[in-house]
Amino acid sequence: MKYYLAPLEGITNYIYRNAYHTHFEKLDKYYTPFISTNQHNSFTTRDLKEILPKNNKGLYTVPQILSNKSADFVRAANSISEYGYTEINLNLGCPSNTVVAKNKGSGFLYHTEALDRFLDEIYSQATMKISIKTRLGKYSPDEFYELVKIYNKYPLEELIIHPRIQKDMYRNVPNLEVFKQTLETINCPVCYNGDVFTTDDYQSITDKFPDVDLMMLGRGIIGNPALVGQIKGKPMPSIATFRSFHDTLYHTYSEVMSGEKNILYRMKGFWFYMIHIFSENKKVIKSIKKCERLSDYDKIMDNLFNEHALTLNTRGFRNVVEGLSK
Ligand SMILES: Cc1cc2nc3c(=O)[nH]c(=O)nc-3n(C[C@H](O)[C@H](O)[C@H](O)COP(=O)(O)O)c2cc1C
Repeated sequence: MKYYLAPLEGITNYIYRNAYHTHFEKLDKYYTPFISTNQHNSFTTRDLKEILPKNNKGLYTVPQILSNKSADFVRAANSISEYGYTEINLNLGCPSNTVVAKNKGSGFLYHTEALDRFLDEIYSQATMKISIKTRLGKYSPDEFYELVKIYNKYPLEELIIHPRIQKDMYRNVPNLEVFKQTLETINCPVCYNGDVFTTDDYQSITDKFPDVDLMMLGRGIIGNPALVGQIKGKPMPSIATFRSFHDTLYHTYSEVMSGEKNILYRMKGFWFYMIHIFSENKKVIKSIKKCERLSDYDKIMDNLFNEHALTLNTRGFRNVVEGLSK
């Protein structure tokens, strides 16, 4: 099995990817959060940081592009290839309403003729390997049958399938039936993505789809960065490893960002997921949420890592994710 880190905007930026790669099981590919194209062929400072080679040393990073204009996509791909990249990913999965309203991400899936034309143009013009990350459709999983026919016309490097539709957002459960049928008709390598939070979840997917040998994980790793190591049967890292992972993230954010609020905002986003490596976490969650000063945050962290046992409450994490999706 090859393991990929899913792109999570606001979380899996280059700082997270590097910290993860240093402290936990190394992954085969790391996807950047989406980079939006524009007609000026320019990247924002934030996007540029994601792709600069000095920020991706030793990582197989795949830049992800969000676009519905082939000329913009090709221009962005060419610029990215100048940094030494050979593979790029197209985002056809983002369910956020602002993205979908512009017929991008999973909003593009409903416009099959335009999508077909777009793919024709990018696959004939771009010089890089292009993989696609997709949902099953916008309104109905039945849309996927036609989408697969379209995908089959082009030399996709890989198709990463998150088997939900746009309207699901993160509600409901991945549609494994349609995923299964796709495996019979698609003619490129398929990567499974969605709701793998525990080793049992992993086992269940690999039991159902023994031929799938690519898996992308997002929230499962963010909630428990030791997950891929556990899947591979490695011993649980010590709490000191989690602490140093946290400290690397925290110190790097503190170096590159200014303002206590901004740094705290990042760390709160991170703890929203990772707090579930501690089962006795309710009080800590509250104090992290309320915290407004770095000096208070430092005290909370010392207390958390010194006083709490690492008890990987993956059930707790699943409860949060499922609670969110109701
Ligand atoms: C906060 C957040 C941000 C995300 N940002 C992106 C993104 O930039 N590009 C993308 O293709 N998917 C994005 N996703 C979707 C994830 O990559 C992934 O497909 C999804 O979380 C399902 O996988 P998981 O159950 O392993 O987390 C995001 C998801 C979340 C929760």
